[in-house]
Amino acid sequence: MSEQVSIAVVGSGYVGLVAAACFAEMGHRVICVDNDEAKVRVLREGGVPIHEEYLPELLSRHRRNLVEFTTDLRSATQDAQAIFIAVGTPQSKTGSADLSYVDAVASEIARSINSYKVIVEKSTVPVYTNEWIRRVIERNGVPRELFDVASNPEFLREGTAVVDFLHADRIVIGAATERAAELLRRIYEPLTSGAYYRGQSPVPGPRSEADPPPILQTSTKAAEIIKHASNAFLATKISFINIVANICEAAGADVEEVARGIGMDTRIGPKFLRAGIGYGGSCFPKDVAAFRHVAEQVGVDFGLLHEVERINEEQKVRFFQKVRSALWTFRGKKIGVLGLAFKGGTDDIRESPALDIVKRLLHEGCIVRAFDPAAEQRSKEVIPESSQMEYVQDPYTAAQDADALLILNDWKDFLEIDFKRLHHTLRYPIIIDGRNLLDPPTMAGMGFTYLSVGRANSVQPLDTIPTYFLPRERENIKRS
Ligand code: UDX
Repeated sequence: MSEQVSIAVVGSGYVGLVAAACFAEMGHRVICVDNDEAKVRVLREGGVPIHEEYLPELLSRHRRNLVEFTTDLRSATQDAQAIFIAVGTPQSKTGSADLSYVDAVASEIARSINSYKVIVEKSTVPVYTNEWIRRVIERNGVPRELFDVASNPEFLREGTAVVDFLHADRIVIGAATERAAELLRRIYEPLTSGAYYRGQSPVPGPRSEADPPPILQTSTKAAEIIKHASNAFLATKISFINIVANICEAAGADVEEVARGIGMDTRIGPKFLRAGIGYGGSCFPKDVAAFRHVAEQVGVDFGLLHEVERINEEQKVRFFQKVRSALWTFRGKKIGVLGLAFKGGTDDIRESPALDIVKRLLHEGCIVRAFDPAAEQRSKEVIPESSQMEYVQDPYTAAQDADALLILNDWKDFLEIDFKRLHHTLRYPIIIDGRNLLDPPTMAGMGFTYLSVGRANSVQPLDTIPTYFLPRERENIKRS
C-alpha cells in the first residue's frame, strides 16, 4: 500500500486541475487553490471548466473525499507536505516567460510555512526559476531547513491530459536534496511501482503493472531545461515536416509517404511529423519564444528557433494562398469551416491556427459558417457572432451552400462525416484540408476538388485552378 501524501496544488488551469485530479486518483489527499472565486465555486459545485477526457469522472470520484477546492492559499500551504505551483507563465512582450504569478505565489507560500515543505515547480519555467523561488522564500524569512524547492515538469497534452499524466513516458524529478526527491518519489510511487495499474478501474492507457513509467532524477536546472527543450524540439519537428511538405508540393511527392519513411527510422520516430497549418496552443508558441529568450540571456545564439517560428507563421499564409487559389476572389464568398480549436479533442482556442485563418477570411470579406465539436463558446468570445460569422451545430449546416469547405483541425469526429451527403450540401464540392485528415483519391472518387498540405491536389474537370496559382502542381492534378 502506497503512503498517502498531503498535497496542495496552486492554480487550477489545465496542468493544476489535471494534476490535482490525478494525484487524488493515485490515493493522495489534495487541496487545489485558485484565486478565481467563481472558478472555485464552479469546481466545488461539481462543474468542470475544461473539456478533458476522464477529468469529470475523476473529479466526481474524488471530490469532497480526496480533492477539495479553495481560495485560501495560507491554510492549504499549512496543511500540505508538498505544494505544487501550477500557475500561468504567460508570454511577456519580449517573448520571455512572465513569472510574476510564480513570484507572487512563492511569497505567499513563504508567509504561511510552519513546518517542512517541498515546493514543486510544475508550471513551465525558464532555467534558474527554481533558484529564484528559493531566494524569494528565504527573503521572506523562512529558514533554509524548513523547505526545499524541486522541479517536476509536466508533459501532458490537452485532450489526452489525464492519460498522459497517469501513463507518462517519464516522470522527471529535479531536486537538490534527497529529502525533497524522496517525497516526490513517494508521491509518484503508485505509478512507478505499477500498483495503480493493478488497482480497481484504473484509467486505461499504455502503461501497465509490468511496464510502469520510469523516474528520471536530475538537477533542478536540468529538469527546467528538459521541459523547454522537449517542447522546442517537438515544435521543431513540426516545422521541419511542414517545410518538407512544401518541398513535396513543389516536387510532386506525398508528404505522408515521406513522413512514414522518415519516421520508420527509430532514431527519428513517427510522432509529430504530421504536416498541416502549423502548431498552436497555449504551450508551443509561448515555450519556443521563452526558450529562445533563455538562450539569448545566457549568450547562446539559438537562431534555429527563429526559423521554427517563421516556418510556423508562413504555413498559415501558404494555406490561405491555397484557399485563394481555389476561390479566386474572397469578398462575399461563403466558406464552411470545420474546426476552431488549436487541435482536435479540446475546446482550447489559444494561438489556434484555425482561428487565425478564420480571422483572415473575415478580413477579406468572406462569410464564414463554422462548426467545432467543443470550441464554439470560447471562439465566440474572440470572434462574436455577426452577419459575417455564424456558428453552427453540425458539419452539414457549415457546408450548406458554401463555395468551399475548410478543415482546420483534426477532430476524429470529422472522419465520421457522410461526405456524399456533404457533397450535395456544398454549392461547389471543394474541400481544402489544412490537417491532411482525408484521403485524396477517396475524395476525388466522390467528386470533390480536394486540396491538402504537401500532397497532390485532386481537381475536378470544372474547377480550373489557374496554373499561375499552382505553378508546379500541374502534373499532379488528377482528373476523375
Ligand atoms: C504540448 C506538448 O505536446 C505537451 O507535452 C506539453 O506538456 C504541452 O504542449 P498540447 O499543446 O496539448 O501539448 O498539444 P500537442 O498535441 O502537442 O499539439 C500542439 C500543436 O501542434 C497543435 O496545434 C497540433 O495540431 C500541432 N501538431 C502536432 C502538428 O501540427 N503536427 C503534429 O505532428 C503534431
